[in-house]
Amino acid sequence: MNRHLIDQYSAPVPRYTSYPTAPHFHGGIDQETYAGWLNEVDPAQSVSLYLHVPFCDRLCWFCGCHTKQVQRYDPVAKYLEALHAEIKLVSSKIGRRRLSAVHLGGGSPTIMSPYDIQRLGEALRSAFEFAPDCEISLEVDPNDIDESKFDFWTDFGVTRASFGVQDFDPVVQQAINRPQTFEQTRMAIEGFRKRGVGSMNLDVLYGLPHQTMETLQRTMEQVISLSPDRLALFGYAHVPWMKKHQRLIDETVLPDRHARFDQASLGAELLEQAGYIRIGIDHFARPDDAMAKVALEGNLHRNFQGYTTDGAGCLIGLGASAIGRLPQGYVQNVVATGEYMTRALNGQLPVARGYALANAERATGWVIESLMCAFEIRLSDLATLFPGEAETVAVRIRALAEHDADGLVEFDGSSLVVTPRGRPFVRTLAARLDPFMTRDEARYSAAV
Ligand SMILES: C[S@@+](CC[C@H](N)C(=O)[O-])C[C@H]1O[C@@H](n2cnc3c(N)ncnc32)[C@H](O)[C@@H]1O
Ligand code: SF4
Repeated sequence: MNRHLIDQYSAPVPRYTSYPTAPHFHGGIDQETYAGWLNEVDPAQSVSLYLHVPFCDRLCWFCGCHTKQVQRYDPVAKYLEALHAEIKLVSSKIGRRRLSAVHLGGGSPTIMSPYDIQRLGEALRSAFEFAPDCEISLEVDPNDIDESKFDFWTDFGVTRASFGVQDFDPVVQQAINRPQTFEQTRMAIEGFRKRGVGSMNLDVLYGLPHQTMETLQRTMEQVISLSPDRLALFGYAHVPWMKKHQRLIDETVLPDRHARFDQASLGAELLEQAGYIRIGIDHFARPDDAMAKVALEGNLHRNFQGYTTDGAGCLIGLGASAIGRLPQGYVQNVVATGEYMTRALNGQLPVARGYALANAERATGWVIESLMCAFEIRLSDLATLFPGEAETVAVRIRALAEHDADGLVEFDGSSLVVTPRGRPFVRTLAARLDPFMTRDEARYSAAV
């Protein structure tokens, strides 16, 4: 890869897990607005849930998630009371809807005790109806799952377990405060597999302190030996101005943007050699995995959890900091767990902010999602879906093609396709279609 491309297109940009992106959400969307939106949701609309558990029993220095370390279980148990209150409140407004997908994330939902896992499953089943093929995915920290919990999560109905690996190299692990052996990870995966949980995902990071091509190659070989169905290879987002604990990471041993680029390429190459299909910017799946299939059919989606097969029109976020997307727009809950709990336990929807979508923003959102998922935008589809807005958005697409001096895109008048050379920079290309993108780049992480 031409080095000047990396220099030119690696400026910080959003990850585009939503459009508009979360920094543009505002306090004008409050609990009354959200209650109105929930009441209006079409009963035929499929619904999925995201539940956030913002606690961990360790603090990894690289972590960019909304979470905090706890030494005792008490705060988790209290928080779960508020989560139960919010589940009841939302279902009282939206009715006993059929769920197509449930995702438990954090933080580490696997910190929950067997009793609380069981209670949460019962609460969700009494508030909602689970579709027979409902996908239930769980983010697992291999550090806090053991024999006492596997059966409870299996009874909960988990269909996909997603394990944080990050890196197996002991020097890298020490530099990010995340000790985790290969054996510990293998046992966590086996625990779910032998109980019939069908799909395993692993998260791996590049761009971590002390990572080199050699250490990454070894980690990738170990990861591949665990035969995950899916794999996410994320670039470490170093944002110490937002996540203070990342200051504990020694910046002098972070790979530079060229090294990051080479690491991402090496990881992708090794996974493709092992038979994985490359999906979007950072996902990989076995050819028989549902994500590989929907990607090939052109039906891949992108939401706050990254790439997804879930095309539900209504995603409800539950828990502190959780973000939902309804047909009318986005809503985000209060981030601070104390305030979240007070509000939910007092019978209030704990909304902090959000964004009501205008049709022009839906059109731009669709275009950015197409680019991020399929590396292509078809103007005929844009015109069919958004007849009133298509021309304004198409002007920006044509301008992107006209100003492309580096062969990152091809445009034949009816569709814009990102070239293999342009794919690593698709976030930067998406930013050029984003009218909100001004000079506030410092908020975002590196594009590569
Ligand atoms: C909520 S965590 C995973 C579950 C569990 N807590 C664990 O760590 O094993 C979700 C994933 O986000 C990714 N992640 C966290 N912080 C990140 C950062 N600063 N940059 C890129 N990815 C990050 C990690 O790969 C992590 O596995
Ligand atoms: S990476 Fe996972 S376990 Fe580590 S602090 Fe973040 S959420 Fe918790």
